[in-house]
Amino acid sequence: MNNEFPQGFLWGTATAAHQVEGNNTNSDFWVMEHVPDTVFTDPSGDAIDHYHRYPEDIALLAGLGFNSYRFSVEWARVEPEDGRFSTAALDHYRRMAETCLAHGLKPVVTYHHFTSPRWLISQGGWQNMETAAKFGRYAQKVTQHLGDLIEAVCTINEVNIPRMAAMLWMAGGTGEPFTRQAAQALHTTPQQFAPFMFAGTAVGRDVILAAHHQARAAIKAERHGSQPPLPVGLTIAMSDMQAVPGGEAARDQMRWELQDVFLEATRDDDFVGVQTYSRERYGQEGPLDPEEGVELTQMNYEFWPEAIGATLRRAHALTGLPLMVTENGIGTTDDGRRLAYYQTALQNVLACLQDGLDVRGYFAWSAFDNFEWMLGYRPTFGLIAVDRSTQQRAIKPSARWLSQVVQANRLV
Ligand code: BGC
Repeated sequence: MNNEFPQGFLWGTATAAHQVEGNNTNSDFWVMEHVPDTVFTDPSGDAIDHYHRYPEDIALLAGLGFNSYRFSVEWARVEPEDGRFSTAALDHYRRMAETCLAHGLKPVVTYHHFTSPRWLISQGGWQNMETAAKFGRYAQKVTQHLGDLIEAVCTINEVNIPRMAAMLWMAGGTGEPFTRQAAQALHTTPQQFAPFMFAGTAVGRDVILAAHHQARAAIKAERHGSQPPLPVGLTIAMSDMQAVPGGEAARDQMRWELQDVFLEATRDDDFVGVQTYSRERYGQEGPLDPEEGVELTQMNYEFWPEAIGATLRRAHALTGLPLMVTENGIGTTDDGRRLAYYQTALQNVLACLQDGLDVRGYFAWSAFDNFEWMLGYRPTFGLIAVDRSTQQRAIKPSARWLSQVVQANRLV
Protein backbone atom coordinates (compact mmCIF):
# COMPACT_ATOMS: atom_id res chain seq x y z
CA MET A 1 0.00 0.00 0.00
CA ASN A 2 1.24 3.46 -0.89
CA ASN A 3 1.52 5.37 2.37
CA GLU A 4 1.65 8.84 0.86
CA PHE A 5 -0.98 11.50 1.41
CA PRO A 6 -1.76 13.88 -1.47
CA GLN A 7 0.27 17.04 -2.01
CA GLY A 8 -1.34 19.98 -0.21
CA PHE A 9 -3.21 17.71 2.20
CA LEU A 10 -4.26 19.77 5.23
CA TRP A 11 -2.85 18.46 8.49
CA GLY A 12 -4.14 20.08 11.60
CA THR A 13 -5.60 19.88 15.04
CA ALA A 14 -8.92 21.35 16.11
CA THR A 15 -10.21 23.30 19.09
CA ALA A 16 -13.42 25.17 19.96
CA ALA A 17 -13.46 28.60 21.56
CA HIS A 18 -15.44 27.76 24.70
CA GLN A 19 -13.42 24.62 25.37
CA VAL A 20 -10.07 26.40 25.41
CA GLU A 21 -10.37 30.18 25.70
CA GLY A 22 -11.61 30.67 29.25
CA ASN A 23 -14.07 33.16 30.74
CA ASN A 24 -16.59 33.05 27.96
CA THR A 25 -18.96 34.79 30.34
CA ASN A 26 -21.43 36.16 27.81
CA SER A 27 -22.28 32.70 26.48
CA ASP A 28 -25.24 30.48 27.28
CA PHE A 29 -22.96 27.67 28.42
CA TRP A 30 -21.31 29.86 31.03
CA VAL A 31 -24.76 30.52 32.50
CA MET A 32 -25.73 26.85 32.40
CA GLU A 33 -22.49 25.89 34.14
CA HIS A 34 -23.31 28.14 37.08
CA VAL A 35 -26.95 27.47 38.00
CA PRO A 36 -27.32 25.68 41.38
CA ASP A 37 -28.49 22.35 39.90
CA THR A 38 -26.16 22.44 36.95
CA VAL A 39 -25.63 19.24 34.95
CA PHE A 40 -22.05 20.33 34.24
CA THR A 41 -19.31 18.53 36.17
CA ASP A 42 -17.02 21.57 36.23
CA PRO A 43 -17.38 25.20 35.23
CA SER A 44 -15.20 26.08 32.25
CA GLY A 45 -13.45 28.86 34.21
CA ASP A 46 -10.14 29.90 32.74
CA ALA A 47 -10.16 26.79 30.52
CA ILE A 48 -6.61 26.62 29.14
CA ASP A 49 -6.45 30.39 28.66
CA HIS A 50 -6.03 30.02 24.92
CA TYR A 51 -7.60 33.47 24.57
CA HIS A 52 -4.34 34.96 25.81
CA ARG A 53 -1.91 32.14 25.10
CA TYR A 54 -2.82 31.50 21.45
CA PRO A 55 0.53 32.87 20.15
CA GLU A 56 2.54 30.26 22.09
CA ASP A 57 -0.04 27.58 21.37
CA ILE A 58 0.00 28.20 17.63
CA ALA A 59 3.81 28.24 17.67
CA LEU A 60 3.76 24.87 19.45
CA LEU A 61 1.47 23.37 16.80
CA ALA A 62 3.61 24.80 14.00
CA GLY A 63 6.68 23.31 15.68
CA LEU A 64 5.05 19.89 15.36
CA GLY A 65 4.85 20.40 11.60
CA PHE A 66 1.12 20.91 11.12
CA ASN A 67 0.13 23.10 8.17
CA SER A 68 -3.35 24.06 9.34
CA TYR A 69 -5.32 24.85 12.51
CA ARG A 70 -9.07 24.63 12.99
CA PHE A 71 -10.36 27.01 15.63
CA SER A 72 -13.69 28.65 16.29
CA VAL A 73 -14.82 32.24 16.56
CA GLU A 74 -17.03 32.89 19.58
CA TRP A 75 -20.34 34.48 18.64
CA ALA A 76 -20.96 35.57 22.25
CA ARG A 77 -17.80 37.72 22.13
CA VAL A 78 -18.25 39.05 18.60
CA GLU A 79 -21.89 40.08 19.08
CA PRO A 80 -22.30 40.66 22.82
CA GLU A 81 -25.75 42.22 22.35
CA ASP A 82 -28.22 41.72 19.52
CA GLY A 83 -26.93 43.76 16.59
CA ARG A 84 -23.93 45.20 18.52
CA PHE A 85 -20.65 43.90 17.16
CA SER A 86 -17.33 44.11 18.97
CA THR A 87 -14.51 45.24 16.72
CA ALA A 88 -12.04 44.36 19.46
CA ALA A 89 -13.28 40.75 19.48
CA LEU A 90 -13.18 40.56 15.68
CA ASP A 91 -9.65 41.97 15.79
CA HIS A 92 -8.67 39.26 18.25
CA TYR A 93 -9.74 36.54 15.82
CA ARG A 94 -8.06 38.35 12.95
CA ARG A 95 -4.82 38.34 14.97
CA MET A 96 -5.25 34.60 15.58
CA ALA A 97 -5.62 34.00 11.85
CA GLU A 98 -2.59 36.22 11.15
CA THR A 99 -0.55 34.33 13.75
CA CYS A 100 -1.49 31.05 12.09
CA LEU A 101 -0.39 32.33 8.68
CA ALA A 102 2.85 33.72 10.08
CA HIS A 103 3.62 30.17 11.28
CA GLY A 104 2.61 28.47 8.05
CA LEU A 105 -0.75 27.20 9.37
CA LYS A 106 -3.81 27.70 7.16
CA PRO A 107 -6.76 28.78 9.30
CA VAL A 108 -9.90 26.68 9.03
CA VAL A 109 -12.46 28.62 11.00
CA THR A 110 -15.69 27.44 12.61
CA TYR A 111 -18.28 30.16 13.15
CA HIS A 112 -20.38 28.27 15.70
CA HIS A 113 -19.18 25.51 17.97
CA PHE A 114 -22.08 24.82 20.39
CA THR A 115 -22.02 28.12 22.34
CA SER A 116 -24.24 31.13 21.61
CA PRO A 117 -24.68 34.59 23.09
CA ARG A 118 -27.04 34.79 26.07
CA TRP A 119 -29.36 37.23 24.28
CA LEU A 120 -30.00 34.73 21.51
CA ILE A 121 -31.39 32.20 23.97
CA SER A 122 -33.65 34.79 25.57
CA GLN A 123 -35.21 35.18 22.11
CA GLY A 124 -35.96 31.46 21.69
CA GLY A 125 -32.48 30.41 20.57
CA TRP A 126 -32.17 27.57 18.10
CA GLN A 127 -35.88 26.89 17.94
CA ASN A 128 -36.72 30.36 16.68
CA MET A 129 -36.47 30.69 12.90
CA GLU A 130 -35.26 34.30 13.28
CA THR A 131 -31.99 32.86 14.56
CA ALA A 132 -31.14 31.80 11.01
CA ALA A 133 -31.03 35.40 9.78
CA LYS A 134 -29.14 36.55 12.88
CA PHE A 135 -26.54 33.87 12.33
CA GLY A 136 -26.28 34.97 8.70
CA ARG A 137 -25.69 38.58 9.79
CA TYR A 138 -22.98 37.47 12.24
CA ALA A 139 -21.34 35.26 9.56
CA GLN A 140 -21.24 38.23 7.22
CA LYS A 141 -19.44 40.38 9.85
CA VAL A 142 -16.87 37.70 10.62
CA THR A 143 -16.16 37.12 6.95
CA GLN A 144 -15.89 40.83 6.27
CA HIS A 145 -13.35 41.13 9.07
CA LEU A 146 -11.15 38.08 8.57
CA GLY A 147 -12.42 36.21 5.51
CA ASP A 148 -9.40 37.24 3.45
CA LEU A 149 -7.14 35.20 5.77
CA ILE A 150 -9.20 32.02 5.96
CA GLU A 151 -8.64 28.73 4.12
CA ALA A 152 -12.15 27.34 4.68
CA VAL A 153 -15.18 28.01 6.87
CA CYS A 154 -17.15 25.47 8.85
CA THR A 155 -20.37 27.38 9.52
CA ILE A 156 -21.82 25.22 12.30
CA ASN A 157 -20.11 22.43 14.15
CA GLU A 158 -22.06 19.17 14.28
CA VAL A 159 -25.39 20.37 12.95
CA ASN A 160 -26.91 17.03 13.96
CA ILE A 161 -25.74 16.81 17.55
CA PRO A 162 -28.85 18.38 19.12
CA ARG A 163 -30.95 15.73 17.37
CA MET A 164 -28.56 12.99 18.53
CA ALA A 165 -28.67 14.28 22.08
CA ALA A 166 -32.47 14.36 22.10
CA MET A 167 -32.87 10.90 20.56
CA LEU A 168 -30.01 9.09 22.26
CA TRP A 169 -28.28 10.29 25.38
CA MET A 170 -30.56 13.06 26.67
CA ALA A 171 -33.80 11.31 25.73
CA GLY A 172 -34.95 11.43 29.37
CA GLY A 173 -34.27 15.18 29.60
CA THR A 174 -31.71 16.90 31.80
CA GLY A 175 -33.81 17.24 34.92
CA GLU A 176 -36.49 19.72 35.82
CA PRO A 177 -34.48 21.85 38.30
CA PHE A 178 -31.63 22.40 35.86
CA THR A 179 -33.89 23.33 32.95
CA ARG A 180 -36.02 25.64 35.11
CA GLN A 181 -33.01 27.41 36.61
CA ALA A 182 -31.08 27.68 33.35
CA ALA A 183 -34.15 28.93 31.47
CA GLN A 184 -34.75 31.55 34.12
CA ALA A 185 -31.12 32.65 34.17
CA LEU A 186 -31.21 32.96 30.37
CA HIS A 187 -34.48 34.93 30.47
CA THR A 188 -36.63 32.35 28.79
CA THR A 189 -39.08 29.62 29.78
CA PRO A 190 -38.42 25.89 30.17
CA GLN A 191 -40.73 25.33 27.16
CA GLN A 192 -38.71 27.68 24.97
CA PHE A 193 -35.31 26.75 26.36
CA ALA A 194 -33.18 26.22 23.25
CA PRO A 195 -29.43 26.59 23.55
CA PHE A 196 -27.94 24.79 20.52
CA MET A 197 -27.39 21.48 22.30
CA PHE A 198 -30.99 21.46 23.55
CA ALA A 199 -32.64 22.24 20.21
CA GLY A 200 -33.25 18.60 19.38
CA THR A 201 -36.72 18.92 17.86
CA ALA A 202 -37.55 18.85 14.16
CA VAL A 203 -38.02 22.62 14.38
CA GLY A 204 -34.55 22.97 15.88
CA ARG A 205 -33.12 20.93 13.01
CA ASP A 206 -34.80 23.19 10.47
CA VAL A 207 -33.56 26.36 12.19
CA ILE A 208 -30.00 25.03 12.31
CA LEU A 209 -29.98 24.05 8.64
CA ALA A 210 -31.55 27.36 7.64
CA ALA A 211 -28.86 29.15 9.66
CA HIS A 212 -26.19 27.22 7.78
CA HIS A 213 -27.72 28.16 4.43
CA GLN A 214 -28.06 31.84 5.37
CA ALA A 215 -24.49 31.93 6.61
CA ARG A 216 -23.24 30.27 3.45
CA ALA A 217 -25.00 32.87 1.30
CA ALA A 218 -23.67 35.72 3.46
CA ILE A 219 -20.10 34.39 3.32
CA LYS A 220 -20.21 33.91 -0.43
CA ALA A 221 -21.63 37.41 -0.94
CA GLU A 222 -18.85 38.92 1.16
CA ARG A 223 -16.08 37.61 -1.13
CA HIS A 224 -15.81 39.39 -4.42
CA GLY A 225 -13.41 40.88 -6.91
CA SER A 226 -10.09 39.16 -7.23
CA GLN A 227 -10.45 37.07 -4.07
CA PRO A 228 -10.66 33.33 -4.69
CA PRO A 229 -13.92 31.79 -3.48
CA LEU A 230 -13.91 30.83 0.18
CA PRO A 231 -14.88 27.16 0.61
CA VAL A 232 -17.85 26.79 2.96
CA GLY A 233 -19.23 23.68 4.61
CA LEU A 234 -20.71 22.40 7.83
CA THR A 235 -19.58 19.56 10.05
CA ILE A 236 -21.49 16.42 10.99
CA ALA A 237 -21.04 14.07 13.95
CA MET A 238 -20.94 10.72 12.23
CA SER A 239 -20.62 7.64 14.28
CA ASP A 240 -20.24 4.45 12.29
CA MET A 241 -23.79 3.12 12.65
CA GLN A 242 -23.69 -0.63 12.28
CA ALA A 243 -26.48 -3.20 12.38
CA VAL A 244 -26.23 -6.64 13.93
CA PRO A 245 -28.33 -9.15 11.94
CA GLY A 246 -31.96 -8.11 12.29
CA GLY A 247 -31.06 -4.55 13.29
CA GLU A 248 -30.88 -3.10 9.79
CA ALA A 249 -34.29 -1.41 9.81
CA ALA A 250 -33.75 0.21 13.22
CA ARG A 251 -30.28 1.37 12.17
CA ASP A 252 -31.47 2.72 8.84
CA GLN A 253 -34.29 4.66 10.48
CA MET A 254 -31.93 6.25 13.03
CA ARG A 255 -29.28 6.92 10.45
CA TRP A 256 -31.81 8.72 8.30
CA GLU A 257 -32.90 10.94 11.21
CA LEU A 258 -29.46 11.54 12.68
CA GLN A 259 -27.18 11.74 9.66
CA ASP A 260 -28.70 11.41 6.20
CA VAL A 261 -31.11 14.35 6.46
CA PHE A 262 -28.17 16.55 7.38
CA LEU A 263 -25.92 15.17 4.64
CA GLU A 264 -28.65 15.95 2.12
CA ALA A 265 -28.69 19.56 3.33
CA THR A 266 -25.06 19.98 2.23
CA ARG A 267 -26.09 20.15 -1.41
CA ASP A 268 -24.36 23.24 -2.91
CA ASP A 269 -21.74 23.30 -0.13
CA ASP A 270 -18.06 23.12 -1.05
CA PHE A 271 -17.16 20.28 1.30
CA VAL A 272 -18.45 18.16 4.17
CA GLY A 273 -16.67 18.12 7.53
CA VAL A 274 -16.78 14.56 8.87
CA GLN A 275 -16.28 14.10 12.62
CA THR A 276 -16.02 10.62 14.03
CA TYR A 277 -15.07 8.97 17.28
CA SER A 278 -16.53 5.47 17.39
CA ARG A 279 -19.25 3.12 16.24
CA GLU A 280 -22.78 2.39 17.44
CA ARG A 281 -24.39 -0.98 16.97
CA TYR A 282 -28.11 -1.44 16.43
CA GLY A 283 -30.31 -4.44 17.09
CA GLN A 284 -33.99 -4.93 16.32
CA GLU A 285 -34.99 -2.75 19.26
CA GLY A 286 -32.52 0.05 18.65
CA PRO A 287 -29.06 0.98 20.01
CA LEU A 288 -27.10 -1.78 21.76
CA ASP A 289 -24.59 -1.39 24.58
CA PRO A 290 -20.98 -2.19 23.66
CA GLU A 291 -20.29 -5.89 23.87
CA GLU A 292 -18.99 -7.29 27.15
CA GLY A 293 -15.23 -6.93 27.46
CA VAL A 294 -14.55 -4.55 24.58
CA GLU A 295 -12.17 -1.67 25.19
CA LEU A 296 -13.97 1.55 26.08
CA THR A 297 -12.64 5.09 25.95
CA GLN A 298 -13.11 7.71 28.68
CA MET A 299 -16.37 8.63 26.96
CA ASN A 300 -17.62 5.06 27.36
CA TYR A 301 -17.64 4.42 23.69
CA GLU A 302 -15.85 1.60 21.97
CA PHE A 303 -12.25 2.00 20.89
CA TRP A 304 -13.10 1.91 17.19
CA PRO A 305 -10.70 3.89 15.01
CA GLU A 306 -12.05 2.15 11.90
CA ALA A 307 -15.09 4.43 12.18
CA ILE A 308 -13.42 7.15 10.13
CA GLY A 309 -13.17 4.92 7.06
CA ALA A 310 -16.83 3.90 7.22
CA THR A 311 -18.12 7.43 7.80
CA LEU A 312 -16.00 9.02 5.06
CA ARG A 313 -17.36 6.45 2.64
CA ARG A 314 -20.92 7.12 3.76
CA ALA A 315 -20.52 10.90 3.43
CA HIS A 316 -19.01 10.40 -0.01
CA ALA A 317 -21.80 8.09 -1.14
CA LEU A 318 -24.53 10.47 -0.03
CA THR A 319 -23.05 13.79 -1.12
CA GLY A 320 -20.28 13.26 -3.67
CA LEU A 321 -18.64 16.39 -2.21
CA PRO A 322 -15.00 16.87 -1.20
CA LEU A 323 -14.50 15.74 2.37
CA MET A 324 -12.48 16.98 5.30
CA VAL A 325 -11.94 15.07 8.54
CA THR A 326 -12.65 18.03 10.78
CA GLU A 327 -12.43 16.01 14.02
CA ASN A 328 -11.19 12.55 14.93
CA GLY A 329 -9.58 11.37 18.12
CA ILE A 330 -9.93 9.65 21.46
CA GLY A 331 -10.39 10.54 25.11
CA THR A 332 -7.94 8.38 27.04
CA THR A 333 -5.34 8.58 29.78
CA ASP A 334 -3.27 5.98 27.92
CA ASP A 335 -1.35 7.91 25.30
CA GLY A 336 -0.16 4.67 23.71
CA ARG A 337 -3.77 3.88 22.88
CA ARG A 338 -4.14 7.38 21.39
CA LEU A 339 -1.19 6.68 19.12
CA ALA A 340 -2.68 3.31 18.13
CA TYR A 341 -6.03 5.00 17.47
CA TYR A 342 -4.50 7.59 15.13
CA GLN A 343 -2.43 4.96 13.38
CA THR A 344 -5.45 2.84 12.46
CA ALA A 345 -7.58 5.89 11.70
CA LEU A 346 -4.98 7.22 9.26
CA GLN A 347 -4.68 3.80 7.60
CA ASN A 348 -8.41 4.08 7.02
CA VAL A 349 -8.10 7.58 5.57
CA LEU A 350 -5.36 6.37 3.21
CA ALA A 351 -7.55 3.48 2.08
CA CYS A 352 -10.34 5.96 1.29
CA LEU A 353 -7.92 8.13 -0.70
CA GLN A 354 -6.74 5.10 -2.62
CA ASP A 355 -10.33 4.27 -3.49
CA GLY A 356 -10.63 7.71 -5.06
CA LEU A 357 -12.39 9.64 -2.28
CA ASP A 358 -11.53 13.33 -2.33
CA VAL A 359 -10.38 13.80 1.28
CA ARG A 360 -8.74 17.19 1.61
CA GLY A 361 -7.45 17.18 5.18
CA TYR A 362 -7.31 15.62 8.62
CA PHE A 363 -7.79 17.50 11.91
CA ALA A 364 -7.08 15.64 15.12
CA TRP A 365 -9.35 16.35 18.06
CA SER A 366 -7.83 17.86 19.96
CA ALA A 367 -4.73 19.99 20.08
CA PHE A 368 -4.93 20.26 23.89
CA ASP A 369 -6.64 18.59 26.81
CA ASN A 370 -9.63 20.87 27.31
CA PHE A 371 -13.14 21.46 28.65
CA GLU A 372 -15.22 18.48 27.57
CA TRP A 373 -18.61 20.16 28.00
CA MET A 374 -20.82 18.48 30.61
CA LEU A 375 -18.04 16.06 31.52
CA GLY A 376 -15.70 18.89 32.50
CA TYR A 377 -11.94 18.47 32.51
CA ARG A 378 -11.70 14.73 33.19
CA PRO A 379 -11.71 13.41 29.60
CA THR A 380 -8.36 14.05 27.96
CA PHE A 381 -8.47 14.23 24.15
CA GLY A 382 -5.32 16.33 23.75
CA LEU A 383 -2.15 15.66 21.83
CA ILE A 384 -0.74 18.22 24.24
CA ALA A 385 -1.41 17.98 27.98
CA VAL A 386 -2.15 21.08 30.02
CA ASP A 387 -1.53 21.50 33.72
CA ARG A 388 -4.33 23.93 34.49
CA SER A 389 -2.78 25.05 37.78
CA THR A 390 0.22 26.50 35.92
CA GLN A 391 -1.17 26.48 32.35
CA GLN A 392 1.97 24.63 31.31
CA ARG A 393 1.75 22.66 28.09
CA ALA A 394 3.45 19.27 27.62
CA ILE A 395 3.67 17.50 24.27
CA LYS A 396 2.56 13.86 24.50
CA PRO A 397 4.36 11.03 22.66
CA SER A 398 1.33 10.55 20.38
CA ALA A 399 1.84 14.13 19.19
CA ARG A 400 5.51 13.41 18.42
CA TRP A 401 4.44 10.40 16.39
CA LEU A 402 1.77 12.34 14.49
CA SER A 403 4.30 15.09 13.91
CA GLN A 404 6.51 12.62 11.99
CA VAL A 405 3.57 11.54 9.85
CA VAL A 406 2.62 15.12 9.10
CA GLN A 407 6.15 16.16 8.20
CA ALA A 408 6.69 13.15 5.96
CA ASN A 409 3.16 13.49 4.54
CA ARG A 410 2.99 9.72 4.75
CA LEU A 411 2.13 7.11 7.31
CA VAL A 412 5.35 6.12 9.07
C1 BGC B 1 -17.29 18.08 19.55
C2 BGC B 1 -16.19 18.53 20.47
C3 BGC B 1 -15.99 17.51 21.57
C4 BGC B 1 -15.59 16.21 20.93
C5 BGC B 1 -15.24 15.09 21.91
C6 BGC B 1 -17.32 16.60 19.27
O1 BGC B 1 -18.62 16.17 19.38
O2 BGC B 1 -17.31 18.84 18.37
O3 BGC B 1 -16.51 19.80 20.94
O4 BGC B 1 -15.08 17.92 22.53
O5 BGC B 1 -16.62 15.76 20.10
O6 BGC B 1 -16.32 14.63 22.61
